[in-house]
Order: sequence, then structure tokens, then C-alpha cells
Amino acid sequence: MDIKNSILDTIGNTPLIRLNKIAEDLPGTMLAKVEYFNPGHSVKDRMALKMVEDAEAAGLIKPGGTIIECTSGNTGMGLALAAIVKGYKLICTMSDKQSKEKVDILRAVGAEVHVCPTNVAPEHPESYYSVAKRLNQEIPNSFWANQYDNLSNTKAHYESTGPEIWQQTGGTITHFVVGVGTGGTISGVAKYLREKNPNIKIWGIDTYGSVFKKYKETGEFDEKEIYSYITEGIGEDILPKNVDFSLIDLFEKVTDRDGAIATRELAKKEGLFLGYSCGSAFQGLRQLKHLLDENSVVVVLFHDHGSRYVGKVYNDEWMRERGFLNEEKQVARDLLAKHSNLPLATIGAGEPVHNAIALFRKYGISQLPVVLNEKFVGSIDDTHLLEALISDPTARDKRVEDYMQAPFPIVQASDPISTIAQKMAKTSGAVLVELGQGKYHIITRHDVVAAMS
Ligand SMILES: Cc1ncc(COP(=O)(O)O)c(C=O)c1O
Repeated sequence: MDIKNSILDTIGNTPLIRLNKIAEDLPGTMLAKVEYFNPGHSVKDRMALKMVEDAEAAGLIKPGGTIIECTSGNTGMGLALAAIVKGYKLICTMSDKQSKEKVDILRAVGAEVHVCPTNVAPEHPESYYSVAKRLNQEIPNSFWANQYDNLSNTKAHYESTGPEIWQQTGGTITHFVVGVGTGGTISGVAKYLREKNPNIKIWGIDTYGSVFKKYKETGEFDEKEIYSYITEGIGEDILPKNVDFSLIDLFEKVTDRDGAIATRELAKKEGLFLGYSCGSAFQGLRQLKHLLDENSVVVVLFHDHGSRYVGKVYNDEWMRERGFLNEEKQVARDLLAKHSNLPLATIGAGEPVHNAIALFRKYGISQLPVVLNEKFVGSIDDTHLLEALISDPTARDKRVEDYMQAPFPIVQASDPISTIAQKMAKTSGAVLVELGQGKYHIITRHDVVAAMS
């Protein structure tokens, strides 16, 4: 029989998976330690359990007590599993930049969640850090896990993640690459690996808006480095005790945009449906490729699963709003997405001009394709109509065909945005997209400008 006594017994022993297509242009062997195989779908299950076990051993929490933590979500999930199995209550404080999915998931596993503002300093009374601290003072028999400064965090990775990586690579690992937040993962794994082989390089991945890289390079905690960013889980505006700078060879910063794009690329090219910081970790590794050679055996650790980011990096609209999509890859079909549910408005060539004006008003549009016998024979737009009405006030009762322009150019649904823009520039303010089975829809100049900006 092979039975686990509880969900907690399934934590750890995650697979090491070779990166293939995405790593083709990187020298050496690229391996991913994929931590979403943990039951809470992140590496944080390991340290969450360790923090609770160490607190129990030290008498910091007693039966029926309350665990409190400020968390970007993953630690909360790990703590929730431990709390459920061990019979504790859990309160999580989170910053409001975290995905809604993360909040919902924590509530689903019984946690009480307090969402706090992101754009305040850690010492501000409303920060998720200060709120956790205050609740800890107010609630009797409560234990504030404090993953930033609680060294059980590092210890968990020293005892489990590090040894697993060493064994899985048969001791051949030359580089360990990982995103850094509290620092527990990098410091614990690095400590174990360096004890086995002091030559192993340890690279931390940081974000723009975080203090780590500059602090490592200059020893200065520079507040000017701090600004808000979107990447979740990595980078900090504090120096957590769990970051052991002496074990880290260098930090590499990755932009929000590059991290998001790499996250999507990992899903498409490797079938690895990962969290945002995983894309940043891989992108950071890619930026450091000049430091690798054919003999390099690189392990990059991927923290969590993509399901918590479906409304963010995996959502085209979210990516577009932030200018993260390479718009050249957008095609006519994507531009139609916003209004494809609405019917295409047209006007008959023989109808009076005032009917066209009424349609402009009704739909808030400025141009219409003109049809005759189910064919597009022309186009009419408000600029030309206005000119016509100024020179001839009776024009409103004349036929549309007397005032129409050339038909809108036709494009295919798979045509890129550049083709659409080119065709549109030569004529009026729109193109028609052929959708098959005699169906068409319209893309206006406004749609193209919105997509490109
Ligand atoms: C998604 C994600 N990536 C990276 C990290 C950073 O890991 P660590 O805190 O061990 O440095 C975290 C931790 O909060 C995380 O949740």
C-alpha cells in the first residue's frame, strides 16, 4: 500500500524537467524545477509547513491558535493546507496588486483575507505588513509566520529543495537561477548546493522597482530604486532576513513586459503553464546567456502554476492594456474581438442619405459600407457627408449612391495589423474583414490606433 496520511505528505519531490524548444539558443543543459507539482501549486508549501512545524516545536503556537501571514498568495495557500490538517485558523493579509484568483483561492481553503493597499510604505499602518503585525498583537494565541524574516523559510529549502536538485542532477548542476522575494528559496537552495560544490553559481532574478540588485552591487539601500511594478512574488522594497546576499553571485533585473511575454512563451513552447515570476526567471536566465557555455547545467526554479494568472498574463486584453503584446502578432480577428458579437451595420445604395445619418447616430459610428444586391459597392462616411450637406442642404433626401466613396478594402481574418494599416491608409477609415460563409465585419481606423497604442 502507498497511502499518504494527509495532503501535507505530498509536499516536495517535484520533477526536474528539461527545457527544449525555448532553450534552443542557450548553450548547455537547461532544466526546470517545476514547483507547481506541490499540492498548493507552488514552492511555498515547503516553507509554509516548515514555519508551522518550527513554531509548534518552539511553543509559539498552541492547539486552536491562529496563524497570521502577509502573503502574495502562495505562502497563504501552503499555510492554509497546514492549518486545515493541523486545526488552526488562518488570517492572510495581501496587497491589492495580487490577482483576484489568489484571494478567491485562499478564501476557498478557509482563510480570512484582508486586502491592503500596495502603494504604501511597509511601515504605513495600512500596509499588508503592518496589518499582519497589528493582528498578531491583538489576537491571543496567534502566530505571525513572517516569511520575510523567519529563517524556517530558508531552512525548508536547505532541507528539501536543495537536496532534491542536487540528487536529480546527479551533482552535475553548475548554475541555479531563481526569482527572489523573501529570499527563502534562493538562500536555502544555495546554502545546500554550495556546501556540496562551492563553485556552483547562484543567480537571483529581480524586478525593476526593487532594491536587491543595487544593494548587492553597491551595498546601498537606495530608496530611489523603489517604485511600483506588476510582476508578482519577486523583488522587494525591504531587505528580508531570508536573503543571504553572500550566497548570491549576481542579480539580474527583468521588466514586467519581458517577464509576462516569457511566461506565455513557456506555456506555448514547453507546455509549462506557469506563474508570472517563472517567466521572469527564465527571461533573466536568457539575459545572462553570455555567461554560459556548452558544459553548463542550469537549474531554473519555477515557483507556481499559471491558473492564478489567467486574468492577467494569459489574458490578451490585460496584456494589450499594458502595451505588453507584440502587436505585429495581432491579426484582424483579434481586432474584431471587441465587437464581433454586434451585427455589421450597412446601408443600401438606393436609400436616402438621412437613413445613413440615422445609423451613424444610432450606433455612434462614422462610416458605413454601402450594399447593392448583397455586394459592397461603396462606402459612406461622416466627413464626406458633412461636406455634401454644407454645399447642398437637400442632400439629406438624395440617394446614398450619389455621395458614396469607393468600397472599403477587404482583408482576411488572419492578416496582420500592418496589412490592415497599409490598406486603410490608401483609402478611407475602415476595412472589411472576410470571415467566410459570406460574412464580413468592419475594422475602423479607431480600432487600429487603439490596438497599436
Ligand atoms: C510567485 C512567486 N515567485 C517568486 C517568489 C519568491 O520566492 P522567495 O520568497 O522564496 O524568494 C514568491 C514568493 O513569495 C512567489 O510567490
